[in-house]
Amino acid sequence: METVVSGIRPTGNLHLGNYFGAVKSFLQMQNEYNCYFFIADWHSLTTRPKPENIIKSTQTILAEYLACGIDPEKATIYIQSDVKEVLELYLYLNMNAYLGEMERCTTFKEKARKQPDNVNAGLLTYPTLMAADILIHRGVKVPVGKDQEQNMEMTRKFARRFNTVYETEIFPEPASFSLAAKALKVPGLDGSGKMGKSEGNCIYLMDDTETIRKKVMKAVTDSGPIAPNSEKPEVIKNLFTFLDLVSTKDTYAYFNEKWNDCSIRYGDLKKQIALDIAAFNAPIRERIKEYSSNTDLLDKIAKSGADKARESATKTLKEVREIIGFRF
Ligand code: TRP
Repeated sequence: METVVSGIRPTGNLHLGNYFGAVKSFLQMQNEYNCYFFIADWHSLTTRPKPENIIKSTQTILAEYLACGIDPEKATIYIQSDVKEVLELYLYLNMNAYLGEMERCTTFKEKARKQPDNVNAGLLTYPTLMAADILIHRGVKVPVGKDQEQNMEMTRKFARRFNTVYETEIFPEPASFSLAAKALKVPGLDGSGKMGKSEGNCIYLMDDTETIRKKVMKAVTDSGPIAPNSEKPEVIKNLFTFLDLVSTKDTYAYFNEKWNDCSIRYGDLKKQIALDIAAFNAPIRERIKEYSSNTDLLDKIAKSGADKARESATKTLKEVREIIGFRF
């Protein structure tokens, strides 16, 4: 079975865009591949978060992924910092990573611009840590967003370079498994094309019915169809995308017909969308609450994931040490 590796940034709560994007791909992949999903808490240090925030956000994101159905029996889910083997590989990879190529990475340049008084070496070597995350399990497929394409290029480069320098074939060159191509794109409700944290237009899985209602009722619309069977403008298409994601086929057909015969009332449409999102979220929200209140269980799951991840990591590292010339 092919090995899949992906890292999850522990930033904030999951929203519907995350759910229908990364989370759904993970849910599918855990049935088909040998999956390693981890929470990238070391990577988060590049921006110097407070210690209590690291613990909290790691627990939150773990609880949310489990609540969505990531199954520790199927996939290995762990916390990056529990698998110290990654650090040793990170060191070896850094020995073959050049300052020039690291400085040229767009993600590095962007971060350096955003935090000019904290352009640290961890930021510079973000791509080698990411490569270590993937290569430690000899992953061949990596589900990532488009923004990670350059980091994936770097990972392949480091894998290839290690193989060349040491005349080995230990590392496969992992392919990106583009989430953007596979996933359903969830639009924003503010008329923008995409739901995203930085866009500030998110409906979170943790949002309750009233919060969802308020957000949906504020959605941007137009003044209504002017002719029967006309094409829907972007903002209206967006609303129908929500129907498509969370409502029944009948509901979709009902409102589509109303659009086509020009009798649609956006207030009714929004009420329906709000109800259906709330119903969709409800069981997930319940499970998030259950997991979040049971930190013992979360710890247990994280520990057993770490044990499995370390088993795979130790195997790779043993070979790597021998290849480099260390006799452990
Ligand atoms: N850099 C990724 C992001 O920002 C997170 C990440 C860290 C990752 N290590 C990884 C993703 C390894 C895939 C594989 O989203």
